[in-house]
Amino acid sequence: MRRAMVKPLRYDDIYSLMQDLLAILPTGSREYELARSLDPARLPAHVGIIMDGNGRWARRRSLPRVAGHRAGVGPVRMAVETCARLGIGSLTLYAFSAENWKRPRSEVETLWRLLHYYLGREVAHLMENNIRLRAIGRIHALPKEVRRELEQAVEATAGNTGLVLNLAINYSGRAEIVDAVNALVREARAAGTLDSLVVDEEAIASRLATAGQPDVDLLIRTSGEMRISNFLLWQIAYAELYVTPILWPDFDRAALLEAIAAYQKRDRRFGGIEPARPAQVEQASFAGVPGSAL
Ligand code: IPE
Ligand code: IPE
Ligand code: MG
Repeated sequence: MRRAMVKPLRYDDIYSLMQDLLAILPTGSREYELARSLDPARLPAHVGIIMDGNGRWARRRSLPRVAGHRAGVGPVRMAVETCARLGIGSLTLYAFSAENWKRPRSEVETLWRLLHYYLGREVAHLMENNIRLRAIGRIHALPKEVRRELEQAVEATAGNTGLVLNLAINYSGRAEIVDAVNALVREARAAGTLDSLVVDEEAIASRLATAGQPDVDLLIRTSGEMRISNFLLWQIAYAELYVTPILWPDFDRAALLEAIAAYQKRDRRFGGIEPARPAQVEQASFAGVPGSAL
């Protein structure tokens, strides 16, 4: 039902977005060939990434864990730019879970400093690429400075119309669902309709932090862990899962394009028996279009 809210892209839009990516890749490089092999009509509408393995990346180099977090900033920039240039609708990055407060205080503080660094450097890049930043998670519980900077970046990019970048910070999938249900109850109480309140899926989905965005089509987790760790529990109901042993700081553009290529090979049936139509486009057949990578 929520898919209906996504405005279908026309072939011309999608093809020109693919060109945006191809234009920055060296002709004949692995990334170029991988990008060309993608079917522009079957891109995931929403990609979620559990960016894991920074600590192990550092340990393998006998470096402190925070060095791994620092090395993880580059792949964030790459993933954001690549998704924007591909014309993907939404990208959700798991940056800090509600459970990550269990880590040593110095590590948590380094993560806030890196977020400060990222926002300071990247807002211009987000503007250039027409990317709209959203923060999802219990943002009100963040240190005041971090919260203020995040809100300013969200505000600055609010008018952009390209990729929606959701940064999941102090995020918990369960908490998000609980918050949505509490919002419903509050609204019904205020309207005097609590006695007759009936909750359906749409009522919950439209009160999640990702309301109005498509469900996740492709969920990537780096570092080989086969778990969800409380990420986007509602929105991944029918996501294709892709786990790679690559540690987040080593996750490069080729690795991301490989994940999307693997996604395109999946047979998605959504409980039916026929493969489902692509989420993003109205018209699935582009055969014979001149210059097409198909
Ligand atoms: C992911 O890397 C980053 C955050 C959770 C903030 P980790 O720090 O979890 O790295 P590993 O899993 O210990 O290797
Ligand atoms: C998940 O990674 C959270 C983020 C990537 C921000 P964790 O490293 O915290 O997850 P667990 O503890 O291995 O489940
Ligand atoms: Mg981890």
